[in-house]
Amino acid sequence: MTSILIKDVSLSFGSVDVLKSLNLDIADGEFLVLLGPSGCGKSTLLNCIAGLLDVSAGQIFIKGKNVTWAEPKDRGIGMVFQSYALYPQMTVRGNLSFGLKNARMAKDEIERRVARAAEILQIEPLLDRKPAQLSGGQRQRVAIGRALVRDVDVFLFDEPLSNLDAKLRSELRVEIKRLHQRLGNTMVYVTHDQIEALTLADRIAIMKGGVIEQLDTPHEIYNRPVNRYVAGFIGSPGMNFLEGVIDGAGEPMFVADGASIPLSRYAFAAAAPRGVPATFGIRPEHVSANSGMDWPFSMKSRVDVVEPMGSDTLVWTKLGKQDVAVRMPSERAPRLGDEVTIGFDPMRASVFDSGSGQRL
Ligand SMILES: Nc1ncnc2c1ncn2[C@@H]1O[C@H](COP(=O)(O)OP(=O)(O)OP(=O)(O)O)[C@@H](O)[C@H]1O
Ligand SMILES: [Mg+2]
Repeated sequence: MTSILIKDVSLSFGSVDVLKSLNLDIADGEFLVLLGPSGCGKSTLLNCIAGLLDVSAGQIFIKGKNVTWAEPKDRGIGMVFQSYALYPQMTVRGNLSFGLKNARMAKDEIERRVARAAEILQIEPLLDRKPAQLSGGQRQRVAIGRALVRDVDVFLFDEPLSNLDAKLRSELRVEIKRLHQRLGNTMVYVTHDQIEALTLADRIAIMKGGVIEQLDTPHEIYNRPVNRYVAGFIGSPGMNFLEGVIDGAGEPMFVADGASIPLSRYAFAAAAPRGVPATFGIRPEHVSANSGMDWPFSMKSRVDVVEPMGSDTLVWTKLGKQDVAVRMPSERAPRLGDEVTIGFDPMRASVFDSGSGQRL
């Protein structure tokens, strides 16, 4: 069943079109991540769902009800903002119950909800402290708690972890995942952190300039990006891109800098085009060096730069003049200047039209 339906939604600030006829269908209980660079319209879209911004055109439905012009409080949503501004003079308990008191909810019901949220978020020992006496991660949990006590169907998160350090981010990321598994609510989560997106999402909507470039599972987005933009945005270290042409009268080949990469095992979206400029993309983790295996494509190359990354090492080699990074276990990494045999299966590649950037 559909939880949130966004139909042809556009939003302009003056002459600036921030959202451009956007469509999105979010299922009941789904964890949907809006991912994209700064300024692409993620917060704007979230604020439209929340009712904090009026759309210029289009409609928004929540649980089948047209809420396009409904007040935020009548939409059945709870929102966690990036800047979580807790009331400094109130205790954690006061912060959690404030909105409910304003809504004139019965005292025992408020107590029940605060106790439940505190238990879920494991902040029970902190209920009588003030925000200044909490760590950043604890404050963030209280901010989530404020949305949780509202007992809503849909949670909206706008970069809730962005002002935490890396370690705390990864800890709270797991907690948000647990929270979703336990509650089963629909969650829409904005981030520009691709690791958060890949680990949390059922589906990711990758945005750019007010449009959704791809809406898919993390697995599909990682393995079959629809265009070069998505391919380059997802994955760290990033995908290798080689410029060349698709050639061959018999089996299609990608030809670049004197190398011919067979594409007979590559799943083209339509019939393989011939003689067109193309970009061959392959992720560093899908290229091997000195593996001793019999790859459909392999060649000799020299190591140009070695970047240790802890458990893995990124080894930079070249195909002609073009860079090819290989991600491999550090204990097997070659040294600077070594000659290595790199190899891969073109089945793992993504091939794009160099002009349009679309996947071929
Ligand atoms: N009130 C406003 N008036 C004019 N332009 C605005 C207004 N609010 C946002 N914008 C513009 O709309 C675009 C999208 O902004 P938005 O806040 O949705 O981006 P975002 O994807 O959330 O970025 P970030 O990752 O930096 O938070 C930006 O170019 C921004 O400058
Ligand atoms: Mg934003």
